[in-house]
Formats: sequence, C-alpha cells, structure tokens
Amino acid sequence: MGGSLDWGKSRATSSRSFYELAAHPSIVDVVAELLGDDVMLWGATLLVRSPGQSHPCHSDIESAPHDRSTVSVWVGIKDVTAESSLIVVPRSHRFGVTIQEERSRKGIDRNTVGIEQVEGWARDRDPDARVVVPRMSDGDALFFDGQLWHGSNNRSERHRHAVLLQYATPGTEIRIPDFNSLDWPFTYLDLPRPPCLMIRGSGSPLSNRFVPPPAADEGGGRTRLSSHSHRLGVPLASDDRTGWRPYDLFKGTTANHEFISCHVSALTRGTSPHPPHRHREEELLLLLEGEVDLILPDLGEEEDEQRIRLRPGQFVYYPAHFAHTLEGVSEIPANYLMFKWYSHPPSSASEILRYRLCDGLDRRVESDIEEGFRPRVLFAGPTSCLRRLQAHVSTVTPGAGYDDHVDAHDVGLIVFAGRIEAKGAEYGPNSVLFFAAGEPHGLKNPGNETARYLVFEFHGHKGAVPSLPGGPSGSFLGKATDLRRWKASLRRMIERFR
Ligand SMILES: [Fe+2]
Ligand SMILES: [Fe+2]
Ligand SMILES: [Fe+2]
Repeated sequence: MGGSLDWGKSRATSSRSFYELAAHPSIVDVVAELLGDDVMLWGATLLVRSPGQSHPCHSDIESAPHDRSTVSVWVGIKDVTAESSLIVVPRSHRFGVTIQEERSRKGIDRNTVGIEQVEGWARDRDPDARVVVPRMSDGDALFFDGQLWHGSNNRSERHRHAVLLQYATPGTEIRIPDFNSLDWPFTYLDLPRPPCLMIRGSGSPLSNRFVPPPAADEGGGRTRLSSHSHRLGVPLASDDRTGWRPYDLFKGTTANHEFISCHVSALTRGTSPHPPHRHREEELLLLLEGEVDLILPDLGEEEDEQRIRLRPGQFVYYPAHFAHTLEGVSEIPANYLMFKWYSHPPSSASEILRYRLCDGLDRRVESDIEEGFRPRVLFAGPTSCLRRLQAHVSTVTPGAGYDDHVDAHDVGLIVFAGRIEAKGAEYGPNSVLFFAAGEPHGLKNPGNETARYLVFEFHGHKGAVPSLPGGPSGSFLGKATDLRRWKASLRRMIERFR
C-alpha cells in the first residue's frame, strides 16, 4: 500500500501505519487543543536526511496563507539527536512573513541562506528571537504552528528518519504548491486538490477533497465497506422450521473497525438463536417489531434478574465478553437489528461503557418538537475497541436537515418515523443507513411530517500504540521505536518509503 495519491504528502491516505500514527490519541489530543475539536490531516511524510544533508530554513508553503489554523508534528523515528534534529525559530509564526518572502526582499538565494542570517532577520522582528535546536531523540515529537520558520542540518554520521504530520482545521483550504517555483510569491495548483483525512469531528467537503482513511484490516482480504443503505421489509419473513432467520445487510472493514457487520433477524416465540455466549466483539441490538426477552447471565444469580423484556424502539449495548442471548416471546415473530464490531487493540482502560438498555423512540408529542434538526444524546463513552461509541435520537422537521459533510467516524442510522433524504434517495421507517468514515453525506426531511431516527456513531480507532506512560508532554509518545508492535510497523514503513 505504498502508492501515493497526487503528491508525496499523502502517505496516510494509503498506508495504515502512517494513518495510525497520525490518528493516535496521544498526538491528536494535543493537536485538538490547538485547533479545536475538528481536526483534518493533510500531510504525512517520512523525512530521511543523509549525513551532511541540510534543508535550508524555510516556511512551509502550504500553510503560509493560513494564520493559526495549521499545526505540524515532527516525530523523531530513527537516529534523531541534537546533531540531526529539526532547527526552529520559536515564535516566528507570529512574524506574519515567510522566510522565502524575507529572502526575496533581501535578494538572497535559497541555498546560500545561513542560520546566522535567519537569526538576524528574526531578531529584527523580535529582539529575543534565536535559532533553537531542540534536544530530541527517537520517539520525541515537536508540535509547531504551520507558519514557524524551520529547517534542518544533519551533522551526524547516520541517516536520520522522522515523520512529519500536518494538520489543519477542516475549513482551511490546502492547495498543492507549484513545485516549479518554490520562491516568493508562492503559487498553487488549482488541481489536483490534495487528498485530506478527517481525523476528529466533521468537516465540509466544500473546502477540501476528503478521502476515506485506509481500512483497519489492510491486508486481511475483508470487504472494504463504503456507505450502505437498506429499506427493510418489516415484518421480515420468518423460518418456521428453525424459528430464527437472519438476514445479512453488510459485513467488512472500515477505518474504525477491523470488522463491522449489520444484520436483521426474525425470531419466533420460544426460540433463541444460540445459548448465552460471550465474545470479543461488541454488539448493539435494536428491536424493530414484536417482543423478546434478553437473557443476560451476568446481571444476577436468579433467572428473573437475568431476563429483560425488550420492546420495539428499545435497544441494548453489549460490551465485549458480556454474556447474552435472547428469546422470542411475542405472538408475531420478533424482528431485531444488530451491529457487531471488533477492532484491535482491546483497551485496558477501566472507564469503558457497560451494558445498557435505552429507549430509542422519542416519545415526545408532536407539539414539543422544536423546529429544525434536533439530536438528543442517549449515551457516549469509550469501549474496549472504540475511542467513543455514541448513541443519539434526532428529530428533523419538514424541510430541515444538514448539509453535506465528512465525519472521521462511521455512522449507523435507523429511521423510526417520517422520511429522510440522503445521498440522493428517500428513506422511510425501518430503513438502515451506514455512512463510512470519510465519505460525504448530508440529510434532509423531504416530507411533511417530522422524521425521527436513531444514530450510532463509531469513533475509532484507538491507535496501534498501546497507551503510553508520561502523558502528553515531553517525550509523551514514549520511545515509540521501543514498542514491539509499533517498531515492526515503523521498520516496514521506513523500508517502503525510503
Ligand atoms: Fe518544512
Ligand atoms: Fe453475540
Ligand atoms: Fe454525519
């Protein structure tokens, strides 16, 4: 998966290793403090500098026009020392001028500009300014504003490797520079637009070209899911012989899931699909029609503590390894929908969501419904394999909705009432929609009654690097290369992109 899309900075769109590093919460939590909750990645590059190689001080051209809305993260990977690390001019992003512009005004050639000269220009603007070589080593990361003056000079005897991750707010229009003219004034290409990835939150596809992130199960041969939609024919035909009839809607891998599937089932009275079982996958089960008893041995010793009646519109969340089954109890066959998913690695965090039952039906009377699009969150929190699972019910009054946007997370949506229009088609009650991360989608109520629907947001991925000691400061990423699993990934990455 080493191919690049349109330019050399789009490694994270095709390499899962790059994407996982760029999406890792240890990094993105810090970036989000600087940029806000919506974070876009537009550049990911492996930088290799041979002994004696220098990269003259410069300002990054892509971020030059964008004040305070870009953040770069330079991560030392291999043979990073004070001899080979990045060179920066702290606070130079506030000068409001790029090095290239300064150089052009003074008529100095790119290759002859020295560090002392740059320091002099910086002092003209800020008497305390100076050139700094941060004392960095492998696994350390440096966060800086995209407008910072910087460069490098590898005075060591070894090839130095670093990864540069470049983020921006999603509304920041990133363009590919015209690499035929790197000098001031900068020029940019209209096309192609660089491929960008939503890493957190949502963004509008009007500003940038978003592409879906690489699938979590890059090499496993699973179907790579894109957005799906199904209009369910409820009641579903049941199977009188076995009492249980499942219908697969979709199954595959996405950016947030090594595996996610959705199926609906018809279950007749007195039937269970299987004895209570436990598994590493998490599940959400929504009752569409009829009634069932959930049988949940983990809820208590007595049988009546273990049996929970579920009615249409109600749903349950089963964490990983929570014992469960269900049994049809109504005269008409029960119809239910289930999402099931898994993603590596399971978290050791203690604060993860537990089993819960919710009512997805918004039972407020029509006159209580506020105009427009109103989401109401039922629960949200981390799970064993997701950074966050969130459930909400929304109401949309006729004509209301929201514009096309791109989410960093996968979304499952089930219509309860009214009609919605999405991706150019209309959907009524018992429709299931799945919007894969990175794919633009919007929604509108084209009908004349209020639409109600239930949404599950699957915010992943927790990242490949296990949670690291030290917190998000100093060498917060630990010595990334010392971590066994990550080390192999990094080595492969270095080999591929050398
Ligand atoms: Fe740079
Ligand atoms: Fe199960
Ligand atoms: Fe969305």
